[in-house]
Amino acid sequence: MARQILIDCDPGTDDAIALFMALGDPRLDVRLVTVAGGNVGLAHTLRNARALVGLSGKAVPVVAGAERPLMGSFQDAAHVHGEDGLGGVRLPEGPAAAAGIAADAIREALRAAGPAGLTLVGIGPATNLALALATEPGLLANVAEIVLMTGAWAEGNVTPAAEFNAWSDPEALAVVLGCGRPVTLVTLELSAQALATPARIEALSRGGSGACREAACGILAATPPSRRLGGAGSPQHDSCAIAWLLAPEAFTRREVFVEVDCGTGPGRGQTVVDRWERLGRKANATLLDTLDAEVFFALLDRSLSRLP
Ligand code: RIB
Ligand code: CA
Repeated sequence: MARQILIDCDPGTDDAIALFMALGDPRLDVRLVTVAGGNVGLAHTLRNARALVGLSGKAVPVVAGAERPLMGSFQDAAHVHGEDGLGGVRLPEGPAAAAGIAADAIREALRAAGPAGLTLVGIGPATNLALALATEPGLLANVAEIVLMTGAWAEGNVTPAAEFNAWSDPEALAVVLGCGRPVTLVTLELSAQALATPARIEALSRGGSGACREAACGILAATPPSRRLGGAGSPQHDSCAIAWLLAPEAFTRREVFVEVDCGTGPGRGQTVVDRWERLGRKANATLLDTLDAEVFFALLDRSLSRLP
């Protein structure tokens, strides 16, 4: 029985890779893709999500959501993802977005899934997830697990303290962290282990053919290498959340207490992750510590082999 998931995203170059990894593996049943503004504005992230799902050939509804965070103003990451959000890689226009609003669609998907029936994968600012969970708390029982690419326990990538998704909407992240359902965290320290180097991109490109593989390799090649990681390659943040669902044995983990700074100072958006139980607070998340990168890239290659 395939695991039912929804993906809330802001494509985004690494979101694109995550969507392909998920849509190409029959062990995941992607029920819904919801979109927020994030890496680039909602007009681009929505167009990109439609195009990526369309290229995969999968009949998955794509629903638009939040253009901006719960508090504060919207700021993009176009300097990383390009003005269009996919590093300049042009894709055919995908099917029209499904009607409605992401937060409502998420609640409908939860209602339809039944008890512990749906895994929420959040790989952008958590605004849509927070709006859905806060609007109808009674549906929390239908959440099997929430897997978030968010946060960092060492240093940020948008400020010294904060990772982009957490920084984009810390209040939304606080709502999701406090919802009482199992939360699994992919932080920057984990995603740094899934580094798309030129050699790995070349190997993926040689691994087969098809429009999705061509698009994925083009997007990977267009993503600037991370200065923070010495320029060796681009960390594949979002697809680590998908890889966790497909190959948990490739990860190590620990239970932690985590809190997000919702203040207005230089620490705004910082995720304070208590990896050594120093605060004596009850753990509220599973932190993914290590990842076998060979398993990760094999998963990506296999998903791309199954896509058109
Ligand atoms: O900090 C990395 C995260 O922010 C990724 O999800 C990337 O796509 C951006 O949304
Ligand atoms: Ca993202």
